[in-house]
Amino acid sequence: MSPFEREITLELVRVTEAAALMSSLHLGRGDKEGVDRAAVDTMRGMLDYIDVKGTVIIGEGEKDNAPMLYIGEKVGNWEMDAPELDMAVDPVDGTRLVAYGLPNAISVIVASEKGSIPYIPTFYSLKLAVGPELAGKLDINAPIRENLRVAAAALGMDLSELTVILLNRERHRDMIEEIRSLGSRIKLISDGDIAAAIATSLPDPSVNIYIGIGGTPEGILAAAALKSLGGEIQMKPWPTSDEEKENLISGGYDTEKVYTTDDLIGKNAIFAATGITNGEILRGVRFQKRRAITDSIVMRSATRTVRRITAYHDLDHKTIPLKSSGEMQFIRIQAVRT
Ligand code: FBP
Repeated sequence: MSPFEREITLELVRVTEAAALMSSLHLGRGDKEGVDRAAVDTMRGMLDYIDVKGTVIIGEGEKDNAPMLYIGEKVGNWEMDAPELDMAVDPVDGTRLVAYGLPNAISVIVASEKGSIPYIPTFYSLKLAVGPELAGKLDINAPIRENLRVAAAALGMDLSELTVILLNRERHRDMIEEIRSLGSRIKLISDGDIAAAIATSLPDPSVNIYIGIGGTPEGILAAAALKSLGGEIQMKPWPTSDEEKENLISGGYDTEKVYTTDDLIGKNAIFAATGITNGEILRGVRFQKRRAITDSIVMRSATRTVRRITAYHDLDHKTIPLKSSGEMQFIRIQAVRT
């Protein structure tokens, strides 16, 4: 075990807590950009305090389009003896959810040994995630009815007792109809499929299977959590344009490859997430008189320790470092006014 994991585990939770807190100030204001900006500025500011030489592998996009947390950006304090790590971030998974006050939005960060997070050049992938009891039993290439039957048998459940969670998208219409025809239960979510995939693998799961086409980066972030929880994710890049297909082929990728959990994340990874709105795995940020409460989860894949952390933030004493324009700025948490 490398010592970096112990040292920065709690630090990473502080990063997602702060990002969740700041973005949650924009709850329900209909401003997706404001939600994302608040989380990105905060995550970037907080990361500067961590003793790592970090490189963003999954972030807000390519450098030209993302001023901060762009792919390739160096984060952390880069102290001489700090460990060199790959970082994958999603300051808000479900910006729309926060903008409209809907459930399931979380702030997420993953740190892993250098070279252990792959680059997959498609925006979407087909994903299948299950908990420990179903790990190794389903096949992303098999028809959904076959997977559901195998799952029901393995769990000793009736098909009508199984719950499948997936994004409510037109592209999933046939899949949804098929699941309905088998009589299984369905949770349709409008966004936020990192939490949905992880929900399959909690000790007391509210859903049994996550399936569908969603973001590729979100699948990799979820893999880090599923690895610690003993669950599984299978992922198949899903190009949606000729350009993406070309990128896969010219990059030497096997277009039919199914990525397993181990392909998606190295063996020493830390996953930290904080709830922004109430959801399948975490409660959202609650505000009281000059106090905010956050719920987080942090896990280490090497030891499979899973910690839940509830933090009570005294808003009269807390300052948050923001880095919105390169300059660090410390602010007190207060309501957003337009
Ligand atoms: P954002 O927070 O970046 O908007 O992502 C939300 C999300 O729902 C992801 O959880 C999911 O993987 C992806 O968008 C699905 O993409 P689309 O909305 O294009 O179907």
